[in-house]
Formats: sequence, C-alpha cells, structure tokens
Amino acid sequence: MTIKDVQIQTQSTQIDDSENVSSNPTDNPSLQDIVSQGLSRRNIMKGTLTAAAAGYLAPAPALAYGGKHNSWGPLLDFRPLSKADAVAAGGKTVTVSMDYDYHVLIPWGSRIDPKSNVQEYNGEPDRRPTSAEQEELIGIGHDGMWFFPENLPKILRIESRFRRELPRLRRYLSDYEGMLCINHEFGTNPHVLGKGAPESLEDVRVSQAAHGVSVVAICKNYQGRWEVTSNKNSRRITVNTPMHVSGPAAHSPLLENGAGNPVLGTVNNCGSGPTPWGTYITCEENFNGYFGTNNGDPQGADELQSAALARYGFSDNGFGYGWHVFDERFDLNNPNYKNESNRFGWCVEIDPFDGSRKPVKRTAMGRFKHEAVAVKELKSGRVAVYMGDDQRGDYCYKYESKRPWREEIARGRSPLDNGRLYVAVFASDLNLEVGTGQGVGEWVELTYKDPRIAEIGLDTQDKVVTYARLAADAVGATKMDRPEWTTIGTKGEVFWTLTNNNRKDQLAVKDGDVEVNEANPIFDHADGHILRTKDLNRKVFKWDIYILSRNTRASDPGTGPNLIEDGVEVLDDMGNPIRVDYEFADYEAPDDGGENVFTDPDAAWADPFGRLFIGTDGGQPDGLQDQLVVFDVKSGEYRRLLMGVNSDEITGITTTPDYRTLFTNTQHPGNGNPASTNFPAPDDGVTIPRDCTIVVTRKDGGIVGS
Ligand code: FEO
Ligand code: CA
Ligand code: CA
Ligand code: CA
Repeated sequence: MTIKDVQIQTQSTQIDDSENVSSNPTDNPSLQDIVSQGLSRRNIMKGTLTAAAAGYLAPAPALAYGGKHNSWGPLLDFRPLSKADAVAAGGKTVTVSMDYDYHVLIPWGSRIDPKSNVQEYNGEPDRRPTSAEQEELIGIGHDGMWFFPENLPKILRIESRFRRELPRLRRYLSDYEGMLCINHEFGTNPHVLGKGAPESLEDVRVSQAAHGVSVVAICKNYQGRWEVTSNKNSRRITVNTPMHVSGPAAHSPLLENGAGNPVLGTVNNCGSGPTPWGTYITCEENFNGYFGTNNGDPQGADELQSAALARYGFSDNGFGYGWHVFDERFDLNNPNYKNESNRFGWCVEIDPFDGSRKPVKRTAMGRFKHEAVAVKELKSGRVAVYMGDDQRGDYCYKYESKRPWREEIARGRSPLDNGRLYVAVFASDLNLEVGTGQGVGEWVELTYKDPRIAEIGLDTQDKVVTYARLAADAVGATKMDRPEWTTIGTKGEVFWTLTNNNRKDQLAVKDGDVEVNEANPIFDHADGHILRTKDLNRKVFKWDIYILSRNTRASDPGTGPNLIEDGVEVLDDMGNPIRVDYEFADYEAPDDGGENVFTDPDAAWADPFGRLFIGTDGGQPDGLQDQLVVFDVKSGEYRRLLMGVNSDEITGITTTPDYRTLFTNTQHPGNGNPASTNFPAPDDGVTIPRDCTIVVTRKDGGIVGS
C-alpha cells in the first residue's frame, strides 16, 4: 500500500482522535525522512546562512506583561510530586507538589457574571444547562488561556507615547485583578447534553454555547483565593457570535455564502497566545468536525474547494456532534452555505478590555488546524508568530509582520494583517553529522508569486491563505509528528511540542522508499518529543530535538513498547522486506530512575527565567495521569509539579505578572464519566466531572515553578 492509497480518512466518529489520522496525501518528506536520509539542502542554505544576522533574534519576549524579573537561587527548588503520591490519588483528584497549594476556579457551568441570577450548573447528573443558561455560563473544554492584568491598557497607552516598553512601569501591573481569556475547545454530546446526539435545535444550541471562549473578570480576595467578579467586558464568545474578517481573505468570494449571512462564530478553540499590544489570540483547531451533510459526501463548489474539503478532513458526519442535522449552517451540502466551512480554521483576535469590539479573524496567518500561537517581538519591532497545525503529518508555520507592531497599532492597523506566511522545511545539514537530531531548516514563504503554488490554482493570496495546507503541500513542507503548542524561550528560541505520531495503521512504502521512516526519531512514536528552533534570519533556522519523552522512562527501551533500537522491517510494494535503521533513537536512562516520567507533551509555556512548563495529553505510564512538568531549560532537569485526574489532559498555562500565581486547566476530566472522577466535586460516583481552572501557588509565596 502506498501513502496515496492511505490518502484521506474523512470519516471519524471518534471525537478528539482526529489529529491522529493524517489527511496529508502528499509525498512531502517527513522530518524523519530528512533526518534519517540526511537530505542535503546545502545549496538552498548557501548564502543565506552567511547573511544570518547575529543580532536578529529578539531579547527575551515580554509576553507575560511582567516587569518583576527577580528570581534567584536554583531554577527548580521544589520537591517534585512523587510517582507514589500521584498514583495514591487514584485519578480522582488533582495533586500537586508538597511545596504547593491549589484551588479550583471557573468550572464549566459557573456564572460569567456573579451578579446575574442565571442558574449555575454544578454537575447534577439528571440535568444540563439550557442554551439560554449556557450562554451566560463558563463553557466546557478549558484549554489555552491568558491572564490580562486590569491596568494593562493604561500602561500600554503610556508606553505607546514613549514608543517602547517601560519595565519600571510594568512593575505596577496588577497581580490581584484582571481579565482571564479562556478557550472552550470541545465537550462531547454525552458530557454536555447527557445524550449521544442532539434531538433538537435547542440541543445543538446548548452544545454550541458550551464551545467557544470566555472573557471573565477575576480577582484575588482577602483570603488569597481567586474568584469571578462582575465586569462590563466579561462575555461569552461562541460559534454564534458576530465576527469581523481581516487580511487577504477578508472580502474573498471564498468566504461568501449564497445565503448572504454575516460571518458568525469561532469553534474548537484550542491553544492561544497573547500579543504585545494587549489582545488575545484564540486558535480554531478541529473545526472540520462540527460540519456534516444530510445527503452523502461533502461536495465542493469547484475542484479546489473539493480538494480542500478532503485535505481539511471534512466528512458527512464530522465528529458526530450532529449540528448539521438541525442547524443548516453546518450542512456542507446546503447550497446557501457552501463556503461556511472556509470561515473556520483561523486565528481570532479578541480584545479582553472592550466587550463591544467584535473578535477579528486574521486571515493573513493562514487557515489550518491552528493549535496555538507564540508571538515574538523581533529587534526590528516586527512580530514573528509561530504556529503548529496539529494533525499527524502536518506542518509548522510562521507569520511575520512587515512593519513594527507599535507603528501599525499607532496607525490603527493590525500587525497581523500585513505580513508574510511561511511553512517550515527541515533539513539536517549545516555540516552536522546525520543522525544527531539537529540541523537547519528553511522558512518557505507561502505566496501566489511562487510558481509551485500558483500552478495548483492558488493564484491570488486569498486562495493561498484559505487553502494554506494545499500551498504548503506544494512547496514540500516537512511532515511533523502532530505539532501542538509553541513558546518562546529566553534566548529567542522556539519550543514546539510534537505530541506523538502513532503510525501503526500507516506502515506504507512508497516507490521503494520507506515513506513512514522513523528518524524523528522513533517508529510508531507514541510518546512525543519537544523540538527547539531558532531563527538565524527571516528564512533560515537551526533546530534540535530538545527531549524525547521516551527518554524519561526507566524501563528498558529494548523491551518497552514503540521503541526501536535496531531499526524496523517493512515491506515494499512488491512485498519484499526492507530494513531501516534509525541512528537517532538513543536511549539515555534518566538520572532519577524514571521517577519523573512523562509522555505526550502538548501545552507549553516558557517563563522569563529559563523555565519551560509542559502540560501533557496522553495516557501517562506507571499509573500516572496527565501532568504539568517544569524544566530548567539550560540543565535539562525537570520536575513534576501537578497531576490531573483520570482521562483528563492538562491545558493552558498563564501567570500573574509577579509569576506567583499560575493558572492551568484540567480538560475533559473523566471524559465526562462520573464513575471515573467527579472532580472538582468530592468523590461521590454520580456528580458529572467538569473542566476547570486550577490556581497554583507556592506555599511560601515564591515564584511558581521555582
Ligand atoms: Fe487541541 Fe491539538 O490539541
Ligand atoms: Ca484537547
Ligand atoms: Ca493540545
Ligand atoms: Ca493533544
């Protein structure tokens, strides 16, 4: 079977498993191909490397809006949550290091406005919120989020007069009060509705209102607990909220509908990121799963749209939400809503401090399954935004503004509208030995001016951004092991979590070569790894593998699952065995004997002191649940800070400006099953578990992670 035979799997009834199925039918090399084959890109790199400006990289990003960068002593100075203590919780309740405390904030179903008298939902098994209630309640599927101190706008206004950041002023940013923007990625029908499928438009509206984003005012009370407070800018943003569209696709016919309906809503809001100008970017990830058809396979309006529907993974039943059955906007074959699907898959910018402003879909940043964004201010004052497309075999992207952000904002324009979109091509050159897990790469611009892109029919920039995956396919982008979050380290480096890449069903051989080769470096890569890139200039970056999650294990890799020491045997088209050896799959026994084992890195945040926080999403080994681990980036040491509950994942990481309060989330605890956990309610076996934010503090009041 060739990779083309595997092609596009458009049918998925399993919610939240879609990223594991590739919809990338191209022959583009995967990172594994490149690392193992030592594909030389020396000629491409020649010249550009010498032009690499040493000073190009920005200093540490100021993204936490903090000015209080005084940390001393060892970076990791807490007692890690031990395996034994973590496992003893039985997956029923969140556990933290003994040097830390936590409390729960904004579980699904709590009020956005504490002064309203809408009925809250507390996990009662015999009812669910109505749609009208849910629109005023915190949604489900807590994911990416960011804390915006309440006086941030004032400080940004003063800074704009001086045209620079004023660190002394930033010391006055509030650590006690602000707006929390939080994504509500998804909630299954059994969890949200208490049934497998909607039976009415009202059911669909409940599901829709549970998805989206919350902008919610929070403050610390006199007891040191965080709570929701009333604020005119607090609001729910759902798939029915009016939106603006900006950038190259703003007035594109590709986004117009026969129905002439306005652009509404955002959905499957996964990761996120703040901008230096004080706004929140939410990312639309598995938007395809909410569409379906009432009459067979989805039909595109033309060849390009048909190809895109397949490439983006649309199918007749989506993920089984059933919205299309009662809401015609989500019926892909409804002639009035032909282009509705093109209105999703974007980055959406939200102003936390102005509830009257419509969220804006920034189309210059491309349309794909956006996981998260990390915005970096460059020395020139321009911004670079690093973005993963989370699906097996999909790509890493970058957006760069053409002009300094302060200049654009001062003129009332967005730095996210006027810029260039790039996709990553990884290589293993730079005179480095093949198989060392490091190399260089090229950011290839996605523009209609590239003949390879124009040739496939993407001859205007609105087409390029709307069908960004097709454009990236055309320029030979590198297939990755499911790129999830990105974050910027203190040296301007970018960390990319590559959560895993389970290839059991895709052992395909193409043209005598092994298409699915595993130098990335692990065959049937169930554990994931973290990649680090650093731009040398606009077009060239260097990269290395920061950590292989499997190397956190104590068990013998030769006997563990998915670990290939001596290569793997696959069959070619003729059925002849081919042996592939993987040079870069070295196992290093962990110093701690595997006490701090983790797999499936997903959420990521680098603090300004040199720590890297990683939230995991995947079955953890040794009886553990998903976890929050903290790295000392320089030494590579890491410790377990927090562990979640049965079947959840740890998502979203943000702090107050003094870095002494950290917010993170447990997402889909127990997958909604009360027999699994009732968190945040006490263990009673019946209360429906609810996604919630966990507020984490050091017992001695120190910086979180230290
Ligand atoms: Fe929403 Fe790829 O996680
Ligand atoms: Ca998730
Ligand atoms: Ca994720
Ligand atoms: Ca994930």
